[in-house]
Amino acid sequence: MTDMSLAPSDRALVPFVSVANMLRLLNARGTESVLRDLARYIEEDYRRWPEFDKTPRIAAHSRDGVIELMPTADAEHYGFKYVNGHPRNMRHGYQTVTAFGVLASMATGYPLLLSEMTVLTALRTAATSGLVGRYLAPKGAEVMALIGCGAQCEFQALAFRALCGITRLRLYDIDPAATEKAARNLKGLGFEITICATAQSSVEGAQIITTCTADKQNATVLTDNMVGAGVHINAIGGDCPGKTELHADILRRSDIFVEYPPQTRIEGEIQQLPEDHPVIELWKVMRGEAPGRTADRQITLFDSVGFAIADFSALRFVLDAVKGTDMVEPLDLLADPDDPRDLFGMIARSAGQAA
Ligand SMILES: NC(=O)c1ccc[n+]([C@@H]2O[C@H](COP(=O)([O-])OP(=O)(O)OC[C@H]3O[C@@H](n4cnc5c(N)ncnc54)[C@H](O)[C@@H]3O)[C@@H](O)[C@H]2O)c1
Repeated sequence: MTDMSLAPSDRALVPFVSVANMLRLLNARGTESVLRDLARYIEEDYRRWPEFDKTPRIAAHSRDGVIELMPTADAEHYGFKYVNGHPRNMRHGYQTVTAFGVLASMATGYPLLLSEMTVLTALRTAATSGLVGRYLAPKGAEVMALIGCGAQCEFQALAFRALCGITRLRLYDIDPAATEKAARNLKGLGFEITICATAQSSVEGAQIITTCTADKQNATVLTDNMVGAGVHINAIGGDCPGKTELHADILRRSDIFVEYPPQTRIEGEIQQLPEDHPVIELWKVMRGEAPGRTADRQITLFDSVGFAIADFSALRFVLDAVKGTDMVEPLDLLADPDDPRDLFGMIARSAGQAA
């Protein structure tokens, strides 16, 4: 049958979640509730880790930053995220990290969802951190130091409240304007806030230390003397070759927990250590096959770099969350001729229609 209409068929339309709709979803459900739901989806996928195709992300580095593709798949779905990291962007009014991603059917290869992922990346990073904190942070922790008060910061705070019960935050950023922005946002959300003049003072009395700074170099945000016994470190800003946040001596005193060792050895804090330094894979902890925190004085370190499976989980969550709502729009993304072999004929037919 000849396609006589310029209007795309249903098969051509891919559900698209825009930034505006992602924000509507957060306002409708509440950000903390979304973080809890996301953590559930991530934990489900971590517990079936061996079912996924896995590869370190594919990175294109330049002087100013990195652009990465993050693919993974199970038997049913394929997912990927496009994401960048450009620490100097802020000076020109651009964000450090932006992202979008796709979830597709393995059966047909057709995309099931195209979504903004800049906000979703901040959410999934924070949900992963909070989830990992549930396994590794000292029981009853209430105080967290948050070093680096940029785009990720408030999401991290909310996830640690939703998932670990953190109520008090000690904030530090080299840029006081960033600290003030975070303090303003977080006070409004009911946290007890202390603004700190140095990174050193921010860790005083904190049971959890989160570092989320952006600097395109091996920075030393935490030195060895700043980390006391029993602390959980949630290190998210060291996520590229030559871009780390912790002094190597801290790593030698910590039990190190990672997402996917082949990627973390390239990108994480452990790039500073020998290739065979022992690490513990988080999926094994979540399946009860490896120990998490075992002692009060143990220093646990989540060497977070961000792995494709958490993005896959986040896309699964969004697909379910927007189903049957008006928070998703149909996007005319796929050419879909009535006769699948007559792709070329679409050009002539559309010219005829337009005339
Ligand atoms: N692990 C993951 O899954 C993951 C996910 C997203 C982002 N990230 C990384 O997290 C980091 C933060 O991302 P963002 O989007 O919030 O960036 P951002 O640029 O919005 O904020 C970074 C903040 O760090 C501050 N800063 C830089 N150096 C500092 C230092 N030495 N001490 C204290 N503060 C310092 C900056 O002033 C800025 O306010 C980036 O490095 C990013 O690449 C990791």
